[in-house]
Amino acid sequence: MDNRWQVEDWEAMKAKAKLSLALALFLGSLVLMQEVQVGVQTSEHPTLGAYLTDGQGRSLYLYTRDSKNTPTCYDQCAQTWPPLLVKEKAVAGKGVAPNLLGVAKRRDGSLQVTYNGWPLYYFVRDQKPGDVLGQGVGGVWFLVSPKGEALKPSTDQQPAGAQTDALLAQLLNEGQAVYSRICVACHGPEGQGGTGVRLAGNTNLRNARYVAGVIVGGGQIMPSFGSTLSDREIAAVATYVRNSFGNQFGVVTEEDVKAVR
Ligand code: HEC
Repeated sequence: MDNRWQVEDWEAMKAKAKLSLALALFLGSLVLMQEVQVGVQTSEHPTLGAYLTDGQGRSLYLYTRDSKNTPTCYDQCAQTWPPLLVKEKAVAGKGVAPNLLGVAKRRDGSLQVTYNGWPLYYFVRDQKPGDVLGQGVGGVWFLVSPKGEALKPSTDQQPAGAQTDALLAQLLNEGQAVYSRICVACHGPEGQGGTGVRLAGNTNLRNARYVAGVIVGGGQIMPSFGSTLSDREIAAVATYVRNSFGNQFGVVTEEDVKAVR
């Protein structure tokens, strides 16, 4: 009698095994289906923490000049910051809140993925997963936190830095204006260089007074700006080049400029 029960258990187990095989195949096809859709997930940065990426781990950014669900980066801007486009909607991956994902219509009718209302963009200079060269560019482009906010170095970790942050933001703003009026012609919109040398990732820029000195005095080819720009303008543009294009070298003050005049 016991034997008979065992045989029935065995049949039941075989049936279960068939069922789980079928389930595995079904789930497998779901995964395949998701791969053709656009995914948004999170990655971990050693100092900045968790941030949004696409399904392949490529960094996504928000543009602080956009307003809710309204992309404003087009033309030249969109060549540098290509929008994350989707046919219908994006799929929430690991670490992403599905209810924060959405889409916004672009001028050409295409759909751009949004998160917490922020339209999401790539940065052309990021080549591989883990690249975050767009972080902080111009003080207006930022990685996106899992909560859907601009990822900025936390100010409560360094209360003494709060004032420097405000100064940095102001100088970046003024510096961007000077840069696009004067420097962009030789150093390029992304600091990639041209007639002038490459400023993106240029470690010579670590030294605040060196940078101030080059702008005041010029070089062999670069004109000197000591007589045409004020201390404030030089501090601003020096701060801008040291904290854009992926650079994060900190503020240059008017005192630094006075010291090299
Ligand atoms: C006419 C082209 C031109 C303009 C305009 C120009 N630069 Fe330059 N810049 C150069 C060149 C070329 C160099 C390399 C030194 C040299 O040969 O003059 C250079 C060097 C520099 C360096 C030093 C880089 C290093 O690796 O040592 C900095 C910083 C810099 N420029 C910032 C600026 C800023 C900021 C402006 C705008 C206020 C500006 N430049 C405007 C052409 C230019």
